[in-house]
Amino acid sequence: MALAMVVDAAQTAADTSAAEKSAAEKSAAPAAQAFRPGLEGVPATQSSICDIDGQKGLLTYRGYGVDELAANSSFLETAYLLIWGDLPSFDQLRAFENDVQMHRRVSFRIRDMMKCFPADGHPMDALQSSAASLGLFYSRRALDDPDYIVDAVMRLIAKIPTMVAAYQLIRKGQDPIQPRDDLPYSANFLYMITEREPDPLAARIFDACLILHAEHSLNASTFSARVTASTLTDPYAVVASAVGTLAGPLHGGANEDVLAMLEQIGTEDQVEPYLDRAIAEKQKIMGFGHREYKVKDPRAVILQDLAEQLFNRFGHDSMYDLARRLEEAAATRLGPKGIYPNVDFYSGLVYRKLGIPRDLFTPIFAIARVAGWLAHWKEQLGANRIYRPTQIYTGSSGRSWVPLDARNAAGGG
Ligand code: ACO
Repeated sequence: MALAMVVDAAQTAADTSAAEKSAAEKSAAPAAQAFRPGLEGVPATQSSICDIDGQKGLLTYRGYGVDELAANSSFLETAYLLIWGDLPSFDQLRAFENDVQMHRRVSFRIRDMMKCFPADGHPMDALQSSAASLGLFYSRRALDDPDYIVDAVMRLIAKIPTMVAAYQLIRKGQDPIQPRDDLPYSANFLYMITEREPDPLAARIFDACLILHAEHSLNASTFSARVTASTLTDPYAVVASAVGTLAGPLHGGANEDVLAMLEQIGTEDQVEPYLDRAIAEKQKIMGFGHREYKVKDPRAVILQDLAEQLFNRFGHDSMYDLARRLEEAAATRLGPKGIYPNVDFYSGLVYRKLGIPRDLFTPIFAIARVAGWLAHWKEQLGANRIYRPTQIYTGSSGRSWVPLDARNAAGGG
């Protein structure tokens, strides 16, 4: 059956069903009960990819604890697990690594396009544009062809880091460095942005950071990816829409803001006054709070350990003392509401120690999360129904058209 017919049929069924449900909801339940702002607690899909226990602070990918994966796995192995469902055999992993390595290079046309981006733009905007542009180069939309799925996975996992690194050098007025085939995935990325081969411990810690950020169930960017996927568009559009969603300060963008906040606090004696003022003014403390976790985010616990490993090896960072002091002071003020450090609180300190510019923190989050987005893309295609929720209309009705010259300043008659 032609894909278009499948889409039309699914759309019609979805619209009919949504209209019926909407009518039923309107007559059966008061609007206030049906509406959950931010869809809090509303299951929007079934998934076997990732599980979170927000009370116990547990996170698993395909049934494996993220702590075990961060300690033993590599990012590419974890990406394989997330996308294909099981840990790879030795041969499968080598083949996957080789395929990703073969796809690392980015067309000179995309690099030329990136040279036209403004040098002072945000790297997340550059990434969103360049990820979307892949759809122009690999436009065959053959979602029922397993080879197309495999190729799209390889390309996105392989090329996203190269594009992040390319923009980093282009905006400094340099030509992008070509990926190095003798370096593993994470070491190669660090090489492409810092222009020198990283210390093995630094590369290993960076790889563990990618594992920790690779997947997190139906967060905003993954939801965005699944909504986009449900229209049966191409995977490059799926990833581009997710990148745009991740960029916001309430989501992936918070990791940059944490360092800005610590700089603003400045010294340890200013931590408590800052917290009291921010809480009184109902400002959010960046890197704190999570819809799912009511305890400290397990990824923050691991990232803190990774940060300490880096400081032990490469020298201390006094900003870490400030961060710990903030965590301690926040525990009595925000802890009773279940607000603790999330993944973004310590990740910036790790990246800062690795010499990574602050505005690359969120693109690095995207490099990792592309594994989760692709896993959800595949899962969505496996049991697709277009996302088309309903709404509770709160606007005007029965208004009459007013000619332009008869309208008052507010636009009415
Ligand atoms: N600092 C202070 N108070 C907070 C914080 C915070 N970081 N987070 C939540 N609260 C408070 C709110 O003020 C609110 O209090 P109230 O009930 O007295 O009004 C209550 O906790 C609930 O807050 P919501 O914003 O409704 O919680 P929600 O689940 O919608 O938001 C979010 C979760 C967006 C992560 C929020 O905690 C936040 O904005 N944190 C700061 C930004 C951040 O670190 N984002 C990264 C999240 S992790 C990630 O996306 C990768």
